[in-house]
Parts: sequence; C-alpha cells; structure tokens
Amino acid sequence: MSFPTHRPRRLRQSAPVRRLMAETRVAPAQLVLPMFVREGISEPRPISSMPGQVQHTLDSLRRAAVDAAEAGIGGLMLFGVPAVRDATGSGAVDPNGILNLAVGEIAREVGDALVVQTDLCLDEFTDHGHCGVLTPSGAVDNDATLSRYAEMGVAQARAGSQLLGLSGMMDGQVAAVREALDEEGFTDTILMAYSAKYAGAFYGPFREAVDSRLTGDRRTYQMDPPNAREGVREALLDIEEGADIVMVKPGLPYLDVLADVRGSVDVPVWAYQVSGEYSMVEAAAEKGWLDRRATVLDSLTSFARAGADAILTYWAVEAAGWIREDA
Ligand code: PBG
Repeated sequence: MSFPTHRPRRLRQSAPVRRLMAETRVAPAQLVLPMFVREGISEPRPISSMPGQVQHTLDSLRRAAVDAAEAGIGGLMLFGVPAVRDATGSGAVDPNGILNLAVGEIAREVGDALVVQTDLCLDEFTDHGHCGVLTPSGAVDNDATLSRYAEMGVAQARAGSQLLGLSGMMDGQVAAVREALDEEGFTDTILMAYSAKYAGAFYGPFREAVDSRLTGDRRTYQMDPPNAREGVREALLDIEEGADIVMVKPGLPYLDVLADVRGSVDVPVWAYQVSGEYSMVEAAAEKGWLDRRATVLDSLTSFARAGADAILTYWAVEAAGWIREDA
C-alpha cells in the first residue's frame, strides 16, 4: 500500500525541509568563469550577442579577476583574441601573445585564490578560424596540429597557466600535450580535456566573442550530436592519454552524455554552459519571459544533478552571489 503510508510531499512542505533534503547542491567553488581578453584595445568591448559579457583589456581583465576571486568561485578560463592572425596561429605560441601575457598577469594577481586556466586551441589565433592547421587542400590536418598544440601547451604552462583546457578535438591531443609538458618539466600542469565536445549551433555567440573568421563548420573534428556512446569513448581515450579531468560540452542539451560519462569514469567530470545557453536565457529574461535568477540557478542545479563536479558558466560570479544569499 503506497498511499496514505507514503506521502512524498512531506519532504517538500517548507523551505527549511526542502533545504535539508536537497540531494545536490551547487557551491561557488564549483564555478569557473570564462573570460575574453583582446589585444590592442583601450576600453573593454561589449559582446552584443552576449549581453553583460565583454572582451577585456588586460587592465579590466585584472580587475574582473580580482572580483571573481573575491566572489569565491573556483577558477577562471581565459580566451585570447589576438590583433593579428595567421595560418598556423603563431600568436598562440608567442610568449608575448595576448593569452600568454594575460595568464601570466592573472596568475600572479589571483593564482593563489583560484585556479587560473587557459583555452588550448588554435581557432582564436588562425586567420581561417579552424582549430588546427590546414593541409594544402584546406582540410584540418590532425597530426600537424598536434605539434602546434604541444608548443602552445608548453607556452601556456611557462606563462603561468595552472590548467590547460584542450578544446580542439584533435585525436591524440592530450597525449601530445602531456608528453611535451613532461619533457619540459611541467609535471604539475593539469590537463582538462573537452572530451565530448559536440559540433552544432550552441556556440553561435562565442564566434562574436572571439571575432572568429570561420567560414564553414567544425563537423570533421567536433562530435556529431546524435552520438552519446561515442562521448563516453572519447572520455575514456582522453583519460588513457593522460587527461586529469574530462568535460562535456555544450551543457544543458547534453546532460544525458554528462550522466553517461559520470557513470563511466573515475576522474572529475566538468560541464560547459556555453554561449548559446547564456544568450537564450538573457534574451528571454530581457523580454520578461523568464525569471533570470531562478532560471540560471535551476540550470546550475541540473548540471550538478547530472553529475558535474564543476561548471564553466558566464554567470559564475553573479551565481556565486545568489548562492551565498540563498544559503
Ligand atoms: C574553441 C572553443 C569554442 C568554445 C570554447 N572553446 C568554440 C568552438 O568550438 O567553436 C565555445 C564556448 C562557448 O560557446 O561558450 N576554442
């Protein structure tokens, strides 16, 4: 006999009861803020497709990093927007390239308060906008890209990055970067693999955020949305290659993959609430169709429930404040 013996509503009757019964919680320390820094500008530039987000100057980046550290979030993920691009993404390996300069400064400023991280991918640095170098016929050359990633990884580690986010989706990228780091003595640099990174529409606003030049798409290297089992396979391969953390991306549309990966591996699993997810909520909230704060907090809880240990989200600092207020 189920009812009236069992009344599930008993555990939902008041806010204090619900708070005590919550199976999952999100803490500020689990949140990572993605940030963009642009070379050669004197004022931060708003990203129109991501209201509230900007391309930072080095100065405004430093101030925002300090605010983020004070908010108690877990980390910062830096993306560079260089002034000049070329076919092989030279700015990515230049110690004076914008991303390497920025991570050095930010690590010195807040590196003991949170984990300062860098995106390891060529798309922001190439004039064609692809995540790798190209063959003469214009295809993305997997194996030639690996040595470029290895150089980029060493440059970032040398500059002061504590964690490298490998987001290029080349086969063998984790092993290539790990080997190069070990050779140079950077044995403590953490590798976070964007293992199950799906191609598709949700990265749209990010293109403006980094002024991407891409024409065409990334479907020969990023994963195909119908494939969930393959996401688990990618995660297992990356762990074998030396990844410390694996990630699933985009976020909310791929919580099934996140849960599958969580159940299949014993390393931390992260999720990325990407630009398109951010912009959808911002747009609907601006129209008054969604309660912004409640929607953001619901979405973060969903990531935790699906098994994410940490979440990259453009709302990291604001959400940390809300979580504190609610506690
Ligand atoms: C690659 C990279 C991208 C994002 C993070 N790292 C772009 C892409 O894969 O097309 C997207 C993040 C977002 O949409 O918020 N450097």
